[in-house]
Amino acid sequence: MSVIVLIGAPGSGKSTVGPLLAERLGEEFVDVDARIEQVEGRDIPEIFLVDGEPYFRQVERRETLAAIEHGGVVSLGGGAPLDVEVGKVLDQVCVVWLDVSARTAADRVGLKDTGRPLLGGQVHSQLVRLMKERRAVYARPATIRVSTDRLTPDEVVETIIAEL
Ligand code: S3P
Repeated sequence: MSVIVLIGAPGSGKSTVGPLLAERLGEEFVDVDARIEQVEGRDIPEIFLVDGEPYFRQVERRETLAAIEHGGVVSLGGGAPLDVEVGKVLDQVCVVWLDVSARTAADRVGLKDTGRPLLGGQVHSQLVRLMKERRAVYARPATIRVSTDRLTPDEVVETIIAEL
């Protein structure tokens, strides 16, 4: 089975667009963050708190590689493309980068986000920092880039399908 991998910062719309795109294409959908929570039997903040980020990244790498191998439409966690092994695999598959400004991402995530440990209490400033660090990492493997700031989820799906 072929695979389409959605990457981008937290708040870029991966978890919203992924299921819509999968439905339009008649493919399976996997959200790797949700998959990690399922196999671990606890949520991501708890994994970070109890076992730390290096442990989370190890599980994330394993589940990301397995999901891409399985195929369909796969939404990655925002930090997954930074992993060297994941990066190598992304170079060989269809990658859609959902690009977003820090302002829009912060509005979507919400100021009181508690599900993303890396954002802490300072959602906007942390997103500015993350995006500065990661822009090139998202851009490098991207087959398609969609700027999502002014698009609805359905419009993002139509834009992706038009470019596939
Ligand atoms: C992270 C993003 C989160 C989640 C974890 C770490 C990151 O996923 O994997 O909190 O490093 O950017 P989303 O991009 O779906 O928010």
